[in-house]
Amino acid sequence: MTTQSRRVVVTGAAGFIGSHLCERLLALGHQVVGIDSFTDFYERARKEENLEDSRGHANFTFEELDLVDADLRPVLRGANVVYHLAGQPGVRPSWGEQFGRYVRDNVLATQRLLEALKDMPVERLVFAGSSSVYGDAEMFPTKESALPQPVSPYGVTKLAAEHLALLYTKNFGLPAVSVRYFTVYGPRQRPDMAFARFMEALVAGDAIEVFGDGEQTREFTYVSDAVEGTIKAATADVVGQVFNLGGGSRVTVNRVLATLEDISGIKARRKTLPAAPGDPRHTGASINLARERLGWEPRVSLREGLTKQWEWFQAARRRQGIAEAG
Ligand code: UGA
Repeated sequence: MTTQSRRVVVTGAAGFIGSHLCERLLALGHQVVGIDSFTDFYERARKEENLEDSRGHANFTFEELDLVDADLRPVLRGANVVYHLAGQPGVRPSWGEQFGRYVRDNVLATQRLLEALKDMPVERLVFAGSSSVYGDAEMFPTKESALPQPVSPYGVTKLAAEHLALLYTKNFGLPAVSVRYFTVYGPRQRPDMAFARFMEALVAGDAIEVFGDGEQTREFTYVSDAVEGTIKAATADVVGQVFNLGGGSRVTVNRVLATLEDISGIKARRKTLPAAPGDPRHTGASINLARERLGWEPRVSLREGLTKQWEWFQAARRRQGIAEAG
């Protein structure tokens, strides 16, 4: 891809996917402004580490601010493209008292960003959507045109935010696109997510907690594939559209565990817990639209991606061990 250097803004820049996106955009020659508020969903130190590479780059600037409270215009001024990845993640913790946080950081934050952008000459807003909007889909692979019926409060907030983005396109011509990520994994995966938890338990000799029978499936997507699709959504002629970004196949949690045992050479002990409320039984993406309209294709197989995450996880543990010993 030949790229023209752009001024781009990434919200959620210190997060798992956001930090990879920043690095890729910098490598492509863009001027990147990263925004993050370091919410306490997990430790700040890990997010600071996520940002380390980007912070060392001359074309990167960082703004610590909260999308709900801050005056966003100064930081958005002059932006060609805005990637909106900030939000409160995680399907299972979105019940009960936590829901307010999801509404604030997913719905209200998006609305504030959209209001700030609606009179600006931005060329594209790419919204980070979620496979969780589908809930228990009626058809697999699931097309973008399927009726969204989320089964978690989190999914409801991601769907609301996606709708908001697209109705700013309809009403004000803000050129928004949504990409629906399917369970992204790889180096820096959030510590609450399945693969990160499985690896921690494996090396600690703890039992791996499996929700339900482990026969649920996910269309796990490697982070560099998700990032490439996201960047393509910023330039293709697709304003107002929604795209599934899925890894290319559906895999059971049991199969993931068997592959991880194989890669790590460690036999997993398992503990079966009840299936978690809010978790869809299956997710599976039809990626034909992204193939056709974005010219995008996932490239990293589960085995390859899981190996990379395992290697990264071990290197991070070694660094931590050295830091603690020193
Ligand atoms: C993930 C992300 O956490 C969400 O933020 C994102 O929006 C969503 O993907 C998406 O596709 O949009 P989830 O699919 O629950 O949600 O991802 P994982 O936490 O990696 O869980 C994958 C599967 O493993 C689920 O079936 C879950 O029940 C299972 N799991 C997870 C376990 O059996 N044990 C665990 O300790 C964790």
